[in-house]
Amino acid sequence: MSKLLPLGLAAGAAAYFLKGLRVDPATAARRAANAVKLSVDVSDKYSNGAALTPPMGWSSWNLFRNKINENLIYETAKALKDSGLADCGYRYVNIDDCWQSSMRDENGELQSDLVTFPSGIKNLAERVNELGLKLGIYSSNGTLTCEDLPASLGNEAVDAKTFAKWGIEYFKYDFCHNVPIPMRAPCIDAITISRSGSQDEKVYASDLAFLSGSAKIVDDPKLPSGRYIDGLSGNAGYAEFVDIEAPESGEYILTLCIRKKSNSNKYAEILVNGKDVYSTTVPATKAPSSEGRHQVRINLQAGKNTIRIYNPIGSRQDSAAKQYTKMGEELKKATAEYAKANGTPEKPIVYSICEWGLNFPWNWGSHAGNLWRTTPDIKPFWASVLMIYEVNVNLYKHASPGAWNDPDMLEVGNGNLSFEENKSHFTLWCMMAAPLILGNDIRKYVRADGTPDSDEPTYRILSNKDVIAVDQDPLGMQCRRIKSNGVRDILVKPLENNEVAVCFFNKGSSPAEMSHSLKDIACRTFVTLPIVDEYEATELWDKTTEVFRSHIKASVPAHGVKIFRVRAK
Ligand code: GLA
Repeated sequence: MSKLLPLGLAAGAAAYFLKGLRVDPATAARRAANAVKLSVDVSDKYSNGAALTPPMGWSSWNLFRNKINENLIYETAKALKDSGLADCGYRYVNIDDCWQSSMRDENGELQSDLVTFPSGIKNLAERVNELGLKLGIYSSNGTLTCEDLPASLGNEAVDAKTFAKWGIEYFKYDFCHNVPIPMRAPCIDAITISRSGSQDEKVYASDLAFLSGSAKIVDDPKLPSGRYIDGLSGNAGYAEFVDIEAPESGEYILTLCIRKKSNSNKYAEILVNGKDVYSTTVPATKAPSSEGRHQVRINLQAGKNTIRIYNPIGSRQDSAAKQYTKMGEELKKATAEYAKANGTPEKPIVYSICEWGLNFPWNWGSHAGNLWRTTPDIKPFWASVLMIYEVNVNLYKHASPGAWNDPDMLEVGNGNLSFEENKSHFTLWCMMAAPLILGNDIRKYVRADGTPDSDEPTYRILSNKDVIAVDQDPLGMQCRRIKSNGVRDILVKPLENNEVAVCFFNKGSSPAEMSHSLKDIACRTFVTLPIVDEYEATELWDKTTEVFRSHIKASVPAHGVKIFRVRAK
């Protein structure tokens, strides 16, 4: 097993195996490079105008888990402001799992826990907004959240409207209790078309359809027609009915006459005239009849129409991409509609996809939302930070303004990370243009007299504006690892004004002298650092500025980093 892993990672990898995960994240990332091709269209970017630099804020999960209430959230928002961290850029106050009541309200809408959040989320959002901060919330792309509370799969439109109405500006969408879209498609005996409200139906038998890919006619004496269309599953084929006559344009009932088969759900999409897509799920069956009727309302144009029936889901990845995209669309629609109805400026919702990297979200995440988790949950110990870094660092080409790899929320200040490890964790996340979502108790950074406790070691880390500026650089480029021997890595991140950030990362357990040729860095095609004789480099933790000629050099502590902002002199 350890042969698969970079040096020093065996213990961390073992932890993943012990937790029952079949592959360690580093291997998963390598496999992802060869991931199945997506069959759902993810060509255009999500573009809601939010998170043009990686979002910054705080989340309740890493430290407080299920022990949250409205006072804690408000006190944290106030502490972000009073500590000066809000001025460093931490603006989103995100409530993670366990804010919900187990009951939806009488209108089927989510409502907050009636005892721990009695004033409601809208009220909390308003109070947080008065502090100049934004409120975030959480749900799951499943039937329940990870803590088994009501969630949003199948309720996307209604929940998105609720969040927009409450003034939510960040939404994390988890993956617990997910039910994938079936890859199996129904078997079609015939289709019929009827005008809404009429008993007349025009029947188009299966042998009238043009069949493509794996679609085929199967003989079946149990059906009156004697045959049905099979082979529409898994994005492998389609059946197309042309010359569907409609006397006038408007709504019609499409009835799929299906051969009832198999004890699993089935899914089909119906593409009308090459532009309108309708979808339908056909339930699993144990019915006594062989034939069933399954109906969808569709719009037809006057004259001839084309109806194509298929199932675009060829993999679990397709299913996740489609389900996450659906929620993102509903969020955009809901914020636009709320703003229009109320004559207020639109509040876009930063959309954070959290399916733990299972379905290669870097392949479709920039189409579906603003950021996507790339790994399982972070833990407040060094092996976890390292393991997540090893996966996320390879995904650099997927990050861009408004679309970020998310290596999970920060554990700085939690668990037993040493000062050096906390500093490295924070620096690496900034080099990787990661969202900076704090996960510790911010209230301790404010003294009794209401002033920031800037002597707190982790406060000094989290408020380092020079390192934050590397994360927030407007180019929005994630660093690349240009050299590694498994123990010592060299990372380079392009910055605006033809500058670069260079990070020496020493994973080893003893200090190391590290250096690298500046000419080699300047010659790389992904940077615009000029090739000159002398460079000026500022180390962003100790704030020293040095002039380097051929090589940039530093002594790097065990489990430590040095991070330089480098410019041509
Ligand atoms: C999952 C997520 C975590 C957190 C919890 C809440 O594990 O990955 O970040 O949101 O659910 O239950």
